[in-house]
Amino acid sequence: MKKFIILCTLCCSISPVWAAEAKLEEIQVDTSLAAIERGVDNLMNNCHSCHTLKYIKYRDLAKFGIDKKKIDEWRGDQPMDAPLASLMSDEAAMQSFGLVPPDLSLMTKAREGGADYVYSYLLGYYNTPEGETKNHIFPETKMPDPLGISTTTDHAQREEIKKTAHDIVSFLSWAADPHEQERQRLGYYVIGYLVILTLLLYFVKNQIWARLK
Ligand code: HEC
Repeated sequence: MKKFIILCTLCCSISPVWAAEAKLEEIQVDTSLAAIERGVDNLMNNCHSCHTLKYIKYRDLAKFGIDKKKIDEWRGDQPMDAPLASLMSDEAAMQSFGLVPPDLSLMTKAREGGADYVYSYLLGYYNTPEGETKNHIFPETKMPDPLGISTTTDHAQREEIKKTAHDIVSFLSWAADPHEQERQRLGYYVIGYLVILTLLLYFVKNQIWARLK
């Protein structure tokens, strides 16, 4: 038993070292409408050909305040209640990659590391001296480098790609929980209501006690 406890303690103390090996870049997700709008725009141009976001409908984008003209361009003749469905059929994906690219609606919640993981993965592509494209974060990935970071050497262009990845991840974080901001606003109302209620009850109590004294 003692040995078992020692082993467990050892494993727990080692695990942060494994986590550190993944070298995820930490980012602050941008929750502004402007960033999320740029993010969905970039996602429609760079990711939508292969990936679906089944829980996000065009109507959700409109409700959030994304430019209606852009939404109409993206959806074409699909209804507002259609989800952001990939342009690639499952059969074509199976033929090209041997698997269907995963749905991205909940991706920033589904992976350990969340937004940091997706951001680091998108920017983790590099070329080996043998001319192969690899990824630091997901070495065996079948996804081709979608933002072209592995072939870009120019500093300004790399910074631009990082900004694009940041906006896409900001959009994906919003998509994983589109009602978060609404909930936060409701939270403030509830707290305000409780504060006012407490004050009122305090005055009522004082009045009752004043009469009883
Ligand atoms: C040419 C098709 C294609 C494009 C374009 C594409 N992906 Fe992918 N993506 C894939 C495939 C295939 C996988 C599955 C990878 C695997 O499991 O090996 C994948 C997997 C992923 C994953 C999951 C990784 C994991 O941990 O399982 C994320 C996140 C992702 N893609 C995000 C994006 C984003 C964001 C974009 C746009 C910038 C994008 N992808 C563009 C094909 C694509």
